[in-house]
Amino acid sequence: MKNKIIVAIDGYSSCGKSTVAKALAKYAGYTYVDTGAMYRAVALYCMEHSIDVEAGADWNNVLPHVEIRFSLMPDGTQHTMLNGEDVEARIRTLEVGNMASRVSPIKEVRAFLVAQQQAMGIQKGIVMDGRDIGTVVFPKAELKLFMTASPEVRAQRRYDELRGKGETPVFAEVLADVNDRDYRDTHRDESPLRQADDAVVIDNSSLTPTEQMEKICRIFDDRIHR
Ligand code: DC
Repeated sequence: MKNKIIVAIDGYSSCGKSTVAKALAKYAGYTYVDTGAMYRAVALYCMEHSIDVEAGADWNNVLPHVEIRFSLMPDGTQHTMLNGEDVEARIRTLEVGNMASRVSPIKEVRAFLVAQQQAMGIQKGIVMDGRDIGTVVFPKAELKLFMTASPEVRAQRRYDELRGKGETPVFAEVLADVNDRDYRDTHRDESPLRQADDAVVIDNSSLTPTEQMEKICRIFDDRIHR
């Protein structure tokens, strides 16, 4: 049995990080952790409790009431639980995504979630995706991937995904949303999205999902020398 490692996957929104992270976790027999879901769960909590994020909340009193867990479903998928309730479908809307990008720059929210993420990695054998995994959460991760694709390609993927869920998005709005989110993710003061110096960059604008996975599994195998 080889030593288990930590795989940190960062990158822009809608560039397929979670698909890659899930597939790699399955390939490696590792646990997958979707940190974006944790920011989304905090966002949903704020929306449901009418917390005015921009006005600034008393975070030290709010956050202890937010309990996030991941639950493994019989079909093998992972669902996000907020205070014991399955919120997986509700956190995936455009509205919650937008609120997540407003709560994620808040220092107290990041400290609260980063501590939980670091605790999840103590045993290693984990694939975690997000924006600051290779830079802040696990700066010593043995394998760091930084994923990217053009804004148009990512907007098309998000558009298709939303349509698939029965929503009726307008492409130009989805594209504007991708650009706004990129700007906020890369320009915030707290842990802005940036490529770790030792990350392997994967631009998947013109890679098929199979080509991409083959490439990533090869990189993983090299890293663990198997
Ligand atoms: O990956 P996602 O779209 O589910 O992420 C939702 C929001 O949370 C997005 O605006 C980026 C933010 N986020 C973050 O700041 N840090 C992370 N580790 C993960 C997500």
